[in-house]
Formats: sequence, structure tokens, C-alpha cells
Amino acid sequence: MAKLIITIDGPAGSGKSSTAKLLASKLNAAFLDTGAMYRAVTLAAMNSGCDLSNVSKLEHIIDNNNFNFEISHGMMIVKINGSDVTEHIRNPDVTSKVHFIASQPSLRAKLVKMQRAFAEKYDKIVTEGRDQGTVVFPDAQLKIFLIADNSERAKRRALELMQKGYDADITRIQQEIENRDLHDTSRKVAPLVPAVDAVNVDTTSLSLEQVVQKILGLIK
Ligand code: DC
Repeated sequence: MAKLIITIDGPAGSGKSSTAKLLASKLNAAFLDTGAMYRAVTLAAMNSGCDLSNVSKLEHIIDNNNFNFEISHGMMIVKINGSDVTEHIRNPDVTSKVHFIASQPSLRAKLVKMQRAFAEKYDKIVTEGRDQGTVVFPDAQLKIFLIADNSERAKRRALELMQKGYDADITRIQQEIENRDLHDTSRKVAPLVPAVDAVNVDTTSLSLEQVVQKILGLIK
């Protein structure tokens, strides 16, 4: 197990990914974007044409495809059977279907195993998702729970999408974020909740640098 584990959990658009990346680079640590794992399995299932509510087919997809996650130049590169799908897993179509994977206990168990195996490889790791502090790394040295106002989260997601050339209707995006919040917080297995020993950080009016400085202050 890694010697230093910092977990960052929180809802979509709260700033987890950017925070984890910048914090990891300041600490010279690895980072893990666990949402990318759920997204990769979703994409593999969509590409196979399988019914996304058929859990045994989805288990077969996880067991019989080669999912690879590695850090290169400060980015997490995601490959399925050797093909780079780093960009493709961010497609809004994938985003809207991840809940099929995220709500199934047997699929989550497989992904939790992958996440712990990834962490094993590093002395220091910043890992982000929905259940990192509650389920995957309950003994992490520092647990952060990021939050931000819904409208601010929608604005950030819209900007991200526009930069990638997708359409970005803020009202629709906010609605989608609120739907994902509902899926994330109401699922029976590993729902999105702060760990009892997590520190809540509201990022609504903080810059990325300010969020990271705040966390660095907590580490000290
Ligand atoms: O962080 P993200 O938006 O890329 O995550 C995509 C989806 O994956 C999110 O809606 C919920 C799910 N997820 C999860 O259930 N548990 C995690 N640890 C990470 C993501």
C-alpha cells in the first residue's frame, strides 16, 4: 500500500480532477482519476453493444478487456486493449451512461481492486472520485470532500466542454449535473457522502491554486 494517500471526493464539477493533479504535482505524488475507470468500462460496454443493464455481461467485459491506466506528463492516459481512449471517455454520451456501471456492487468491487492495485505502485498518491475516503482507502492520511454551488459547477463543466468543441448549454448541463448528483448520492452501494473524518472544502469562490494551498496547509 502507498505510504501517503490523500483522497479527494466530491460531486461532478467540484474541481476534484484539477485539484488532484495540481496537488500531486506539488507533492511529487501520483494521482488517480477513478471516474476515468468507470468511464472506460462504460465505453468498452457501449462499444461491445451490450445491454448496459446486464450485469453478468458487464462483469465479462471488465474481466476480458485489458484496461490500462498510466500517468504520462501529468495526465492519466487510459487505454482499452492498447487503444488510447483518454479523450473518448469524456464524451457526454459516455457520461450519461456511467451510472449503469457505478450502481452495481459486483462491478464496483472489481474497480475498487484495480484502484488499490494502482495505489500499491506508488509511495505517494492523490486519488479522486466519490468513494475514495469512505470505501477504497478508509485509512488515508488526509481525506478531502470538495463541494461547490450547482451553478458554478455547471459553468466549469460548460467551459471544459466548449474547449473540447462540444455544445454547452449551461441550463442543460446544470440539469445533467443535478441528475448525476442524484445517482451518485442515492445509490445503495458506495454513495457519494463525505467520510466522517473528511475535511469539507467549498471551492465555489476559490481559484484552483487557492484550493491546493488550503489542502497543503492541512497536510502541514
Ligand atoms: O468524476 P467523473 O465525473 O469522471 O466520474 C464519472 C462517474 O463515475 C460519476 O458520475 C460517478 C462514477 N464514479 C463513481 O461512482 N465512483 C468513483 N470513485 C468515481 C466515479
